[in-house]
Amino acid sequence: MDTVILHSHTDLDYAERAAQVLRRGGLVAIPTETVYGLAANALDEEAVQKIYAAKGRPSDNPLIVHIASFDGWAPLVREIPAPAMKLAKAFWPGPLTIVLPKSDRVPKSTSGGLETVAVRMPSHPAAQAIIAAAKLPLAAPSANISGFPSPTKAEHVIDDMNGRIDMIIDGGDAAVGVESTVISFTGETPQILRPGGVTPEQIRSVIGEVTVSPAALHPLGKNETAESPGMKYRHYAPKAEITVFAGADRAYFRRLAEEKENGVFALCFTEDAERCPVPFVTMGSRSDPLSQAARLFDALRELDERGASQVLARLPDDTGVGLAVCNRLFRAAAFRFHYEAPILGLTGASGAGKSTAACYFIRKEFGFTMVCCDHIARNIVEEPEILAQLVEAFGPEILEFGRLDRRQLAQLAFASEEATQKLNAITHPAILKKVKEITLFLARKGEPTVLDAPLLFSTGLDTLCDLTIAITTDKENLIARIMKRDRISREEAENRLARQEKEQFTSRADIVVRNDNRFSFQAQLRKIIRRVRALDEKNKKHLP
Ligand code: TXA
Ligand code: MG
Repeated sequence: MDTVILHSHTDLDYAERAAQVLRRGGLVAIPTETVYGLAANALDEEAVQKIYAAKGRPSDNPLIVHIASFDGWAPLVREIPAPAMKLAKAFWPGPLTIVLPKSDRVPKSTSGGLETVAVRMPSHPAAQAIIAAAKLPLAAPSANISGFPSPTKAEHVIDDMNGRIDMIIDGGDAAVGVESTVISFTGETPQILRPGGVTPEQIRSVIGEVTVSPAALHPLGKNETAESPGMKYRHYAPKAEITVFAGADRAYFRRLAEEKENGVFALCFTEDAERCPVPFVTMGSRSDPLSQAARLFDALRELDERGASQVLARLPDDTGVGLAVCNRLFRAAAFRFHYEAPILGLTGASGAGKSTAACYFIRKEFGFTMVCCDHIARNIVEEPEILAQLVEAFGPEILEFGRLDRRQLAQLAFASEEATQKLNAITHPAILKKVKEITLFLARKGEPTVLDAPLLFSTGLDTLCDLTIAITTDKENLIARIMKRDRISREEAENRLARQEKEQFTSRADIVVRNDNRFSFQAQLRKIIRRVRALDEKNKKHLP
């Protein structure tokens, strides 16, 4: 079949020509403000069958009927309850679809065999002009091959439908970018079956109580039936396998860098572009769900065009139109998530109170797990391979009865800058490897982790952390605490501190916590915990 392509801006008779095709029982792809629709005469069984055939759509998935004026509504439904009318008056023409018991005029094929019908009045001028010219209600699902992302540009429709339908009207890019909100008035309380361009908050502000179908953000269980049949099918899916990343900012980029060799693509926010270590496609701005809605489907198609097979996507906020964005993205990802619990890096000069802070984080009520670099370091030197290297570097006097004499090693290794470097060159790589392994294992198992790391920055362990915290206090305090704790002279304590100065704890950390007084110290830590937890809750919210 030859598909005629017209432009609503330049082909002045586009509406009349589209209307002719529709009145003859043909198929026309039309622009709407949400996504492009594949339209046919909603009252003509045969024409409607062609829609299902062209899309490859299961015939039990009902179509939305589009009208151009309020007069067109009443003939399609049994009655219009007052709240439904109120809602239509508030949001029509616009991205809202209302489900009500259908009249006998609506054929079963249009309603997918249901006793109800979904009706919407689109606001796109070309859609309005075509419906008005055809003088018919138009059944129109999104104009994509069933299961693919919905089309938001005429090119998307051409890709999917050229040669399968009579006509495509190019009316520019869809402004909203996700489909309409579908709300049903067939139960006791109005229920949003599919989130879309009109938000639950907007609907509540007009009619009060409304529920959101659990299917909006969760996969249907085996024995659950879909209120909206569309919810049960694989949807919006590109060829690429998408995984939604639920974790902190830095964790996202760290994961991408790890997956670089595997050819992973990022589906990220525009703000992420500069930091992205792998090829990426953007899906709008992080704090602007409207821009995400406008971009999402195009971004999904772009990933396919660029040959992406594995994609790690950002987790959008689910408020406002973000609910619709999440709904589409989670389906495109077949509800695959990768969650990483928060990792906090704790550092500071010797004696500042890192360990005290770490012990606070691991209290039962806060639920963090601690990874202690010193502890791992202590154990590393016992490993035969490392011990042998130490003996070679510092001499057999670091051994006592064949075992490591820690005090002796410390004395030799901290005697000079050079000696310390020698020690570090032997132990640090092994320590780092182990610390990374354990920390990531915990975070990926879902355990919020606090990493106690005296050399957080110079070792690069800070890149493992979503948030770095430096504990600090006055120098005199530090010296006194070190002398007491390690039973060393003032001079030794001062030397040790001087060597640590290059860590630049306080200038490099995200947060500096002063440990001068126990109560304010704990209050500062609690504030951090609250902040980290709030972000973590958001990330965990959608996990199956
Ligand atoms: O924005 C939109 O709504 C776009 C444009 C073209 O208007 N259309 C659209 O249609 O998204 P479609 O067919 O791709 O999605 C219609 C959704 C499906 O999830 C379907 O199951 C649901 O609406 N639906 C249609 N009639 C229904 C009914 N009577 N009861 C419950 N759900 C219904
Ligand atoms: Mg669709």
